[in-house]
Amino acid sequence: MKILGIESSCDETAAAVVENGRTVLSNVIATSLEEHKLYGGVVPEIASRRHAESISGVVSEALNQANCTIDDIDAIAVTYAPGLIGSLLVGVNFAKGLALASEKPLVPVHHLRGHIASNYLNSTLEPEFLCLVVSGGHSHIVLVKDYTKIEVIGKTRDDAAGEALDKAGRAMGLAYPGGVSIDKLSKEGDENAFKFPHPKVSGSDYDYSFSGLKTAVINTIHNAAQKNEEINKADLAASFQKAVVDCLLEKLELAIENTGARQVVIAGGVSANSKLRSEAERLCKKHGISLSIPELKYCGDNAAMIAAQGYFEYKSGVAADESLNAYATMAIDKNYGA
Ligand code: KG4
Ligand code: ZN
Repeated sequence: MKILGIESSCDETAAAVVENGRTVLSNVIATSLEEHKLYGGVVPEIASRRHAESISGVVSEALNQANCTIDDIDAIAVTYAPGLIGSLLVGVNFAKGLALASEKPLVPVHHLRGHIASNYLNSTLEPEFLCLVVSGGHSHIVLVKDYTKIEVIGKTRDDAAGEALDKAGRAMGLAYPGGVSIDKLSKEGDENAFKFPHPKVSGSDYDYSFSGLKTAVINTIHNAAQKNEEINKADLAASFQKAVVDCLLEKLELAIENTGARQVVIAGGVSANSKLRSEAERLCKKHGISLSIPELKYCGDNAAMIAAQGYFEYKSGVAADESLNAYATMAIDKNYGA
């Protein structure tokens, strides 16, 4: 079964054709990132305009590269939540029009479920597994009981891990996205040069909080500036990255121990982080359990992951009609139409 996936929740306009949820036939991405760099973050209005300009060409290119026409496609999967509403609407409306004109089923996909599904691409991974989902807007620990059955175990109370990295990067004067810049710069720094607090979160063993950590790094920069002291940015980046990764993995380890999970999966843009990848490997080796992390090209936003999750959603009976809307927020454990 061939699924055409469409993704436009942030600044990437993406389309892909994936067979049976696992075999990528094409994966096309256009991004407006370079324009947003000027402003230090994604400007929603610019992102929406670029989506509207690119989407038709990106979808055509995805079909071409897969040697398909729309007639060869079994269903059209589209990200409908969560994300920037103007951006999401471009993808949703395009997918609705295409589904109507081609008389194909329309399958709404939750963006974070898509990130999880990036681990099914070119892989034999099957649920059940414990998953750390870390993106620019979300940080969750979830139990994926089945492809469309997700239980939230923990989540961030404030900033997401990616957001904290981006804001810290900005405070250090690094290029957007800060997460990527911090990862690069950290390789030249001493991760033990600065000590950062590990935030305590009351009422849950598994919830995260990153805003205190973000404030701590900003205070470190301000204090040094007030004293006219030069700060070693590579040391600061490496120490902050270590603090974020340690926090993420401390709670994940507790969840591994308490759920008895045998498979661990990492997903979302931050799963590209080299420190998180190597430390997660160490953690899973220590517990004698398997670890799946997406190939680097599927860590960030793409449509192959949406087509993959779309396949499993469609097989479970999920389909939408032309009344489908886009939503800026949506719980990851909420099934469409339930
Ligand atoms: O999943 P994603 O592409 O978009 C959202 O759904 O939010 O995640 C983007 C986030 C950004 O915060 C970015 O800084 C972070 O992923 N990111 C990284 C790395 N690559 C992307 N963070 C740390 N290290 C990286 N190598
Ligand atoms: Zn994403």
